[in-house]
Amino acid sequence: MRIDVLSIFPGLIEGFLGEGIVRIAREKGLLDVVTHDFRNFATDQHRSVDDKPFGGGPGMVLKPDPICACLDALLGDAKPLPRMLLMSPAGKPLRQQRVREFAKDERIVVLCGRYEGIDERVTLLWPFEEISIGDYVLSGGEVPAMVLIEAVARLLPGVLGHDLSAVQDSFEGPRLDHPHWTRPADFRGMRVPDVLLGGDHAKIAAFRRAEALARTKARRPDLLEGRDKPE
Ligand SMILES: C[S@@+](CC[C@H](N)C(=O)[O-])C[C@H]1O[C@@H](n2cnc3c(N)ncnc32)[C@H](O)[C@@H]1O
Repeated sequence: MRIDVLSIFPGLIEGFLGEGIVRIAREKGLLDVVTHDFRNFATDQHRSVDDKPFGGGPGMVLKPDPICACLDALLGDAKPLPRMLLMSPAGKPLRQQRVREFAKDERIVVLCGRYEGIDERVTLLWPFEEISIGDYVLSGGEVPAMVLIEAVARLLPGVLGHDLSAVQDSFEGPRLDHPHWTRPADFRGMRVPDVLLGGDHAKIAAFRRAEALARTKARRPDLLEGRDKPE
C-alpha cells in the first residue's frame, strides 16, 4: 500500500515513519508513505500557503492553489483516483471498521489542514472524504494523519508478528479487548488469575470472553446496544 500525505509540516511525519510498527511495515515493503510539502507549489515570493478568510473573522485559511497544484502534480489524470481523505474535525469519526476498509486500498492520499482549515473549493474539485479522529480540535492534520497511518499499518497482512493480534483487539468485534497479564505471576502481592496459569485453553478463552464482556458493559455499553448476544 502507498499513502501520500500532503502537509506543510512533513518533518512532523518523517520522524514517526522511522519508528515502531510503521517502520516495520515500511521495511517489509508492505507500506510506502510519501510526504509532499505543498508549500513547494506556492508561486508567490513568500511561498505563502494561507490567507485571510473572506467575510472576515479570526485566523487564516489554507489557499486552494498550492494544494491543488500539488494534487495535479501527484495525481495528474489518474483514473480511477485513489481514496482521498481530508483530516478534519468536521469529518466522519474514524472507526475500526473504516480502518479495515482503508487497509484494503492500494493507495490513499491524505490531506492535512492547518489554521482555520482549507478553502472549501479544494473539496469541490477533488473527491475528499473528511475524517475526524475525535471530538476535539488539534492545530493540524498531521497527528490525525499519523493516527490513520498507524491504525492502517497494523492491519496490513504480515505487519504484526502474529496476525491474530489485531483480530483480538478492541473494536474488532462489538467489544473491548480483555485484560492482559504477564510475568511475574505474583507482583506486589497481586496474583495472576489461576485460570491463566492452568493451561486449559477452552477455560482461558471463556474467561477472556467474560472479562471482555464485563469491561465493555462497564466502560462502553454503547458498543453492545442492539445486540442480544455479543461474541
Ligand atoms: C485548528 S484545526 C481547524 C478547525 C476548524 N476551524 C474547525 O473548527 O472545524 C486545523 C486542522 O487540524 C486538523 N484537525 C484538527 N482537529 C482534528 C480532528 N479532531 N480530526 C481530524 N483532523 C483534525 C484538520 O486538518 C484541520 O483543518
